[in-house]
Amino acid sequence: MSGIPHDHYEPGTRPERWLHERLPVLGLLYDTLMIPTPKNLNWMWIWGIVLVFCLALQIVTGIVLVMHYTPHVDLAFASIEHIMRDVNGGHMIRYFHMNGASLFFLAVYAHIFRGLYYGSYKAPREVTWIIGMLIYLLMMGAAFMGYVLPWGQMSLHGTAVITGLFGAIPGVGPMIQEWLLGASAVGQPALNRFFSLHYLLPFVIAGLVIVHVWAFHSTGNNNPTGVEVRRGSKAEAERDTVPFWPYFVIKDVFALAVILTVFMAIVGFMPNYLGHPDNYIEGNPLVTPAHIVPEWYFLPFYAILRAFTSDVWAVQVVSFITGGIIDAKFFGVLAMFGAIAVMALAPWLDTSSVRSGRYRPMFRWWFALLVIDFMVLMWVGARPAEFPYDWIALIAAAYWFSYFLIILPILGVVETPDDVPATIEDDFNAHHNARHGADSTPAE
Ligand code: HEM
Repeated sequence: MSGIPHDHYEPGTRPERWLHERLPVLGLLYDTLMIPTPKNLNWMWIWGIVLVFCLALQIVTGIVLVMHYTPHVDLAFASIEHIMRDVNGGHMIRYFHMNGASLFFLAVYAHIFRGLYYGSYKAPREVTWIIGMLIYLLMMGAAFMGYVLPWGQMSLHGTAVITGLFGAIPGVGPMIQEWLLGASAVGQPALNRFFSLHYLLPFVIAGLVIVHVWAFHSTGNNNPTGVEVRRGSKAEAERDTVPFWPYFVIKDVFALAVILTVFMAIVGFMPNYLGHPDNYIEGNPLVTPAHIVPEWYFLPFYAILRAFTSDVWAVQVVSFITGGIIDAKFFGVLAMFGAIAVMALAPWLDTSSVRSGRYRPMFRWWFALLVIDFMVLMWVGARPAEFPYDWIALIAAAYWFSYFLIILPILGVVETPDDVPATIEDDFNAHHNARHGADSTPAE
């Protein structure tokens, strides 16, 4: 599967040989587990495994929740209370699932920003990146639809706001919104279809994860230097890599244990910290909550959605040119999806010949600003849409687009990169020796 030369599976016993000739599944598993992995991967490479764990956790806890949940507008809220009070361990399963979604998004943001810093999106890993973006979009869809199911105040009114975004599409918008909801307002048909899709999407995501892993196993992993593993000979490849098992399995399991310790503390002691109290009030279409705030992981893109009001000159210009077809609301919707689209286009917008941010002195500053910008958007997304928050949101949204559309393309041309190590082995030895004394023997 991989282009890096390494030992492949050889069936040892007769039953193994029998199976291998008919279905080489053990060979596939062996090659996947023993894949040569750059030996200099740092702690930012743990998030992929954390993500796999989160997906499994959400599927397992979700299936148990469904055994006790009723997707009916008159019973959904009560069935959640039933899970919390009557079902053995029900409150724990639910809190795992609720907070599992947050851990999932925390991990995906760390994973994405790792990719953005170390240039993991650049050739030849564009397909891994694009599949990752599809996964991310589906994760957002699944999380949004899951939030509808408890049928609390935020579920109901959040659904009205989000499906209303589609209603902003000129001409066909209201039709699309009605088609999504299955009715003219949020009600039983919407609950039914969101329940059905919420159950389905994680399995679609699981399928895409397999393709994602297949894609980066075909190119080999990126690593902190951005330098590729040498593929000329087996001996050279072996000096740049170690097999995934046991080295990275142990490292990833250790990281997962640390992360789960914190996760368990949150699930055990403050399970509702990240949620909104209004969702413990049964959904009532006649009472709109004072502030409709999405979950924390949607906030940066929600802030971009709200940033473009009719007071913004760019919105006025576009609205004028399009004869009012693109009004402020639709502009906001385009900006929100555009913010994700520009990130997906990073492989083609980044013009630098050097992959890793570690050797890009100017890039590093702009990237740090992007991380801060993301946090600011997250913060401002939960504030009311009034001065000074509207201004802050607008500036932060403008930076997000500028980073991808202007800064990344220009930096590649104007920046003089630092010296990049010739091989992964050189980088590994330099770090290893720095930590363990200059004259220690490099580990092979
Ligand atoms: C369910 C969600 C996801 C899962 C389970 C997953 C899993 C993984 C795993 C296991 C790796 C190996 C390296 C590592 O452990 O970090 C990886 C690499 C990668 N992922 Fe994901 N991923 C997910 C979502 C995403 C998203 C949303 C993106 C961004 C668009 C993305 C982009 C990448 C890239 C570019 C690599 C290659 C990095 C390298 O070569 O080392 N992934 N992914």
